[in-house]
Amino acid sequence: MKNSKKICLVVVCCVLFFFKNNIQAQQFSEIQINAKIDSVLSLLTLEEKVAMCHAQSKFSTPGVGRLGIPEVWMSDGPHGVRGEINWDDWGYAGWTNDYITAFPALTCLAATFNPSIAKAYGISVGEEAKYREKDVLLGPGVNIYRTPLNGRNFEYMGEDPFLASTMVVPYIKGVQQNGVAACVKHYALNNQELWRDHISVEVSERALYEIYLPAFKAAVQQGHVWSIMGAYNQFRGQHTTHNEMLMNKILKEDWAFDGVVISDWGSTHNTKEAALYGLDMEMGTGTDGLTTSTQNAYDFYYLANPFLKMLKEGTIEEAVVDDKVRRILRLMYRTNMSNNSSFGRINNQEHLDVARKIAGEGIVLLKNKNSFFPINPNKEITIAIIGENATKSLTVGGGSSELKAKNEISPLEGLKNRYKNATIIHAKGYASGPSQYDRVVEPTDDLENLKKEAIEVASKADVVLFFGGLNKNHLQDCEGGDRQSFGLPFGQDELIDEILKVNANTGVILVSGNAVEMPWVDNVSAVMQTWYLGSEAGNAMADVISGDVNPSGKLPFSFPKKLTDNAAHSFGEMSYPGDSITQYYKEGILVGYRWHETKKIKPLFAFGEGLSYTNFEISNIGTAKKTYSKDEEIVVSATVSNTGNFDGLEVVQIYVGKSKSKVERALKELKGFKKIMVKKGESETVEISINVNDLAFYDETISDWNLEKGGYVIYVGNASNNISKEIKISIQ
Ligand code: GLC
Repeated sequence: MKNSKKICLVVVCCVLFFFKNNIQAQQFSEIQINAKIDSVLSLLTLEEKVAMCHAQSKFSTPGVGRLGIPEVWMSDGPHGVRGEINWDDWGYAGWTNDYITAFPALTCLAATFNPSIAKAYGISVGEEAKYREKDVLLGPGVNIYRTPLNGRNFEYMGEDPFLASTMVVPYIKGVQQNGVAACVKHYALNNQELWRDHISVEVSERALYEIYLPAFKAAVQQGHVWSIMGAYNQFRGQHTTHNEMLMNKILKEDWAFDGVVISDWGSTHNTKEAALYGLDMEMGTGTDGLTTSTQNAYDFYYLANPFLKMLKEGTIEEAVVDDKVRRILRLMYRTNMSNNSSFGRINNQEHLDVARKIAGEGIVLLKNKNSFFPINPNKEITIAIIGENATKSLTVGGGSSELKAKNEISPLEGLKNRYKNATIIHAKGYASGPSQYDRVVEPTDDLENLKKEAIEVASKADVVLFFGGLNKNHLQDCEGGDRQSFGLPFGQDELIDEILKVNANTGVILVSGNAVEMPWVDNVSAVMQTWYLGSEAGNAMADVISGDVNPSGKLPFSFPKKLTDNAAHSFGEMSYPGDSITQYYKEGILVGYRWHETKKIKPLFAFGEGLSYTNFEISNIGTAKKTYSKDEEIVVSATVSNTGNFDGLEVVQIYVGKSKSKVERALKELKGFKKIMVKKGESETVEISINVNDLAFYDETISDWNLEKGGYVIYVGNASNNISKEIKISIQ
């Protein structure tokens, strides 16, 4: 190589080395960020500070043009980046470059019981948000599943605070490593949609701290989430979005949250409370988050002119707005004013692969008589695929989490792709129309004819797959309303009974985000819970139905046999849904399996339950010792043996109960789990550690956690109702 070329090469390497170090130097440390914040704050006028604390459009807040401070742009939602919405109304802007990857709903992610896959989820959805130039992604939602009627359960992570806490942290870290802020929501106690914008929740402090807050606390203290969304409802008569106890004491003081509190869209109701009780960014006032809008009302927002007036009068000190602006600037230095962020990526194969993998690991096999599943993809058989959910798009609808997916493989398409040798015949079977409560059915649908066709098709098939469940219509799995009955809608139960009369070889595949009643469960051969799976739905279902993927999902919430077996529905209307003003969480800490196990009310399917195509045995279960003291780790070890014919993943679950306690306790509570791959014929050992301090209960008499001494029982198994061994230990 000529000397001149060598010199050029050396120069290029030096330049690259300089820039690389320089950019790394730009990765602002928290100390550098705080210094920058203080210097910027000193340059801002009062008007500019106040402007940053409230919306300028549906999904953005203003920056400070003269200082080069950018606007902050936000977008829904937890399952993917929502289509672009108009500046000042809820209409879609109709762009052609906002198609995205639709990832599975968070109930599916929770059902994987796999924290590493939650990280992959967060990274992927964060890359798409970055590419769409969003600074804040308005998700994940972690409200606890208290009633099977809540319209938004599909967006959340189930009934157990430990599962939700464990799964939400890696999702947040994945999103935020892209330089996009996650916004954990809806803080707090937004556990139903009916009367959501005003109902006042009364709940014991013990249940608040043990059940409803842990996932938010984990998001803040372990996930280091950069923003959090206040909820619509009230807590003890004060709106949660500006609630003195939830925001000032618990979130910002006890948990030392250093990020931004963003209101829900229309959840702000009072200037003084918003100013003094923790709200930092007011969004969507004049709307209920789904409809209505007050045109260009931004100067009339509670944290706009009224706030400015109080600051100028001295009714509120300037330090109050300074704290809000510091938090907002900190969010900006972490996102749109950070120099280390990527450009993001969108609609690539990797994201589709991640969506398909999450879906495949989240699908839950609930019943599988005589190995109905898997169905051999090479056999020349006739498969009847019946049900509207085999073809209906389920990435649209459902409220703010709806998506404009570039791809959405339906179950029918997915199965046609995979079963090349089979004859597949399809019948819609039933029609949901806009909503069965509007009694409007799509004009083309003659319900009786649909039913007749479905029975005809079923009678000709070797095997019937019924794709039913719920959908994203209003009053189904949809924001802004709750379901009005526990059973399957649109006449599905009767249709399933009719189909069974002509073909007993029928499996039911439920596409939903909530538990449903199953009067036909003893008569069908198999039941599979497949969630809302997004872009790769049909392919992921075909993966599991064909046996390409061995199902390993576990239920993140209980399926009660009947609605009144559920805790919230056991205490009359003041418990659920309340009297439209107030409701009382009378079940206290006994939510979900905590209720079923403690009250000995057998569920139809239990929390943590899920079958595999293979068989696992859990043995050699033990702990290193029997006596522990505080701060110690209890390490539970076990051997998982795969005695069947498929490689597979199993989830070893550790529950703990207190044998005798001075307070009411749940019989058992999930305190640890681990998902492990075990090849057929092989065994693997797992070790799951639990910190003794996590066995404390929240003691209202001392307003703090209390670790009781004495005996405890450790339950080790693969479902809340399937325990292989109980180990007695004691805490000194
Ligand atoms: C909605 C939802 C919230 C969403 C926001 C913006 O009302 O409650 O989850 O992020 O408004 O669409």
